[in-house]
Amino acid sequence: MTMTAIQNNYNVDEIRREFPIFEQEIYGKPLTFLDSAASAQKPKCVIDAVHDCYSNEYANIHRGGYFLSQTLTAKYEEARETVRDHIGARFSKEIIFVRGATEAINLVAHSWGRKFLSEGDEIILSQMEHHSNIVPWQILRDEKDLILTVSPIDQKGNFLLDEYKKRLGKKTKLVAITHISNALGTITPIKEIIRLAHEVGALVLVDGCQALPHMPVDVVDMDADFYVFSGHKMYGPTGVGILYGKKDLLEKMPPYQGGGDMIRSVTFEETIFNELPHKFEAGTPHIVGGIGLAMAIDYINALGFKNIHDHEAALLDYALEKIKEVEGIELRGQADELAGILSFTMAAAHPHDIGTILDQDGIAIRTGHHCAQPVMDFMDIPATARVSFGLYNTKQDVDRLIDGLHKVNRIFA
Ligand code: ALA
Repeated sequence: MTMTAIQNNYNVDEIRREFPIFEQEIYGKPLTFLDSAASAQKPKCVIDAVHDCYSNEYANIHRGGYFLSQTLTAKYEEARETVRDHIGARFSKEIIFVRGATEAINLVAHSWGRKFLSEGDEIILSQMEHHSNIVPWQILRDEKDLILTVSPIDQKGNFLLDEYKKRLGKKTKLVAITHISNALGTITPIKEIIRLAHEVGALVLVDGCQALPHMPVDVVDMDADFYVFSGHKMYGPTGVGILYGKKDLLEKMPPYQGGGDMIRSVTFEETIFNELPHKFEAGTPHIVGGIGLAMAIDYINALGFKNIHDHEAALLDYALEKIKEVEGIELRGQADELAGILSFTMAAAHPHDIGTILDQDGIAIRTGHHCAQPVMDFMDIPATARVSFGLYNTKQDVDRLIDGLHKVNRIFA
């Protein structure tokens, strides 16, 4: 791993040099990348880990008795251990490699939901969930006649704990909720949400996609029953993510998919399933993705969450101050606890136009409903423009953004 930035106590210019994407220009302008909530850029150490693995170490894992297979199997299992340690889980077998958070939620819905939920049982979601934490539960609701209840937020994007408490009851079997909203940046009071759900005997699944890149996560301390996240938002490869589940729960759950690796023995009459975590990992996994994800975790930890947090918080404060100078801006995510996301609309232009004009200056933001249409409906808007920060963003990025927003106003004046 390149360590220059780390030795220099968070020198963001050094850090940017570790991300090859920033070597290029877009339309002849420097790249200002403000869409890390959709997918983060990759440091060279992650790219190298993937490249080295394919170049020098590659073979299928868990299947071969020969050197390459054995060595890579050990490395893949070390990657699982890195993930376990990173989120404070007790056992490696609680860490299931999946394609991403979406697959993890579908896995829980299909496996745990199908087995343990029945007619009239209730699942509580928050108003600001991503579609991937809504649609799998709707599919299950329609199949099993469940009740889906929405726990509200206020217009600033704060999760309303008192309203949530009112909705919890004997019928509640699951609360499926985000740790940080991808559309608004709200950090939910997750520990309290979980504690209250447990008081009524409900389990909690936490969508941690936006939390992992920004803050330390301890699944045991928060007492999450399931915690899911994707590698690509935390500077790792696409196509790999994690389902954490408490061992006792995972052991009682049936497999989600059948295939290789998830079996102990197969005859045409019956199959004996493998033990955890392999029971949920049918087929050849994204081997190189798992190894790249472990490298991304090492990278984040070498930089240090405190440093990353201080840097991103300072950027957010700076951006919140500067954006006030832009005429016609309305901030849409203004919760008391915010992560590195700025969601806004402008009086003069539709978010898609804002995005197009910024893009011409090499500034990448996301515009639209951010796969969270219900929260847009709640705010009575079709879309927002969303700026999201990563550990490599700078004040110059914010300045370029603000100049771009002034330009939007000039063009649409
Ligand atoms: N969920 C991703 C986002 O927030 C794609 O943009």
